[in-house]
Amino acid sequence: MSDPTRPPAVGVLDQGPAITFPPGFLWGAATAAYQIEGAATAGGRTPSIWDTFSHTEGRTVGGHTGDVACDHFHRMPDDVRLMAELGLKSYRFSVSWPRVQPGGSGAANAEGLDFYQRLVDELLGHGIEPWLTLYHWDLPQPLEDAGGWPARDTAARFADYAQLVADALGDRVRYWTTLNEPWCSAFLGYGSGAHAPGRTDGADAVRAGHHLMLGHGLAVQALRASRPDAQLGITVNLYPVTPATDSPADADAARRIDALANRFFLDPVLRGSYPADLQADLASVTDFGHVRDGDLATISTPLDLVGINYYSRHVVAAPVEGEQPEAYWRAPTCWPGSEDVRFVTRGVPVTDMDWEIDAPGLVETLERVHRDYTDLPLYVTENGSAFVDTVVDGQVDDTDRLAYFDSHLRAAHAAIGAGVPLRGYFAWSLMDNFEWAWGYTKRFGMVYVDYDSQVRIPKSSARWYAEVIRRNGLAAQ
Ligand code: FCB
Repeated sequence: MSDPTRPPAVGVLDQGPAITFPPGFLWGAATAAYQIEGAATAGGRTPSIWDTFSHTEGRTVGGHTGDVACDHFHRMPDDVRLMAELGLKSYRFSVSWPRVQPGGSGAANAEGLDFYQRLVDELLGHGIEPWLTLYHWDLPQPLEDAGGWPARDTAARFADYAQLVADALGDRVRYWTTLNEPWCSAFLGYGSGAHAPGRTDGADAVRAGHHLMLGHGLAVQALRASRPDAQLGITVNLYPVTPATDSPADADAARRIDALANRFFLDPVLRGSYPADLQADLASVTDFGHVRDGDLATISTPLDLVGINYYSRHVVAAPVEGEQPEAYWRAPTCWPGSEDVRFVTRGVPVTDMDWEIDAPGLVETLERVHRDYTDLPLYVTENGSAFVDTVVDGQVDDTDRLAYFDSHLRAAHAAIGAGVPLRGYFAWSLMDNFEWAWGYTKRFGMVYVDYDSQVRIPKSSARWYAEVIRRNGLAAQ
């Protein structure tokens, strides 16, 4: 008899009926420039904050860097062929800012742009819709040296860069994401320091978050003016935040973390204001003096869609007097003003990142954005899981990852059934890659990458996903 106190095993498919997604549902997979391209010095590319950070001792596991990564820069046509074999309808990639505008200001670098022009042409040639993210964390190092995202001017530099990319690719790329996960750029980059540039100042993190959003708004205005037909959006990483108990103190802890993780970005972008409770919580950190008249109007420039990255849920509790708060990532300082909140683990199955697997949280997240914020089309622009993979007889049987996708796609379908205008889903990731501070030690890919030989092996989840796309849904289990 099974032990009811034990959590269910990872990798077991939930039982469920066959489900079909709406016609035209956009099935894709996502990657990011620094995580896969390599070719760090090719064709005039200059360092980004991630080059500097990963080359600094002690910043990444094993001292891993993105110098070579998946060598996608040189293997791009083969990688696109692989995407076509999987039947992807869309591919979400990011443009490396220091590749196309070395140093982060001035003229475009034709050699750098040429790579993305070839990529886009290759995708279109295979009937794959290109989905372009402008900023997936690789700020040109000279802009960081000039103050980075806590400095207001970086927002203007970002809008110039957006214009330059629109001029080169706007005739062929329909879907545009300005920023990927500004929470990570701001609060991991400038708060906890777990991500590049590795700074640790709560007020800087809050300023960075604001200037990232300002850059987003300015970029949307520039893109809209030059490409009125483009579909423009932002990608935010959202978490349901649940109190550990029904005590008022735990409810307040959840409110605070929800404000910092979710509403810090959703409110300015979709409502044109910062939440009052967030500003009160941050009173000891900043007086929000960096917010100028007109900023929130720029930040809330209308969009065509919202991208949501979903991985897990946060369960939090109020601090217990005399007890140290549980460590969260490297330091709790990615929650300025709320560093004493405890992040609680529930003992449910986790991925190799130790992130709890919580498919119902995806339904909650999608429903909340639709109910509380917007009627705009929503896209899951990332969702996936790291697990330890082993190659046996040239195959990788990743049932755990496959089951993660299955349960989250069933959740996505349930959200559609509840009236959420979800229009597409991008698996993270197409292939194993440089997982930021974790280097190459965490594998998120549907395609296995042997980093010595650069051989790609589609895992079981890739073949399964190809079948999901083919039937536009899931078979009964
Ligand atoms: C997201 C990032 C992505 C990848 C996944 C696992 O936060 O956008 O680059 O690292 O997590």
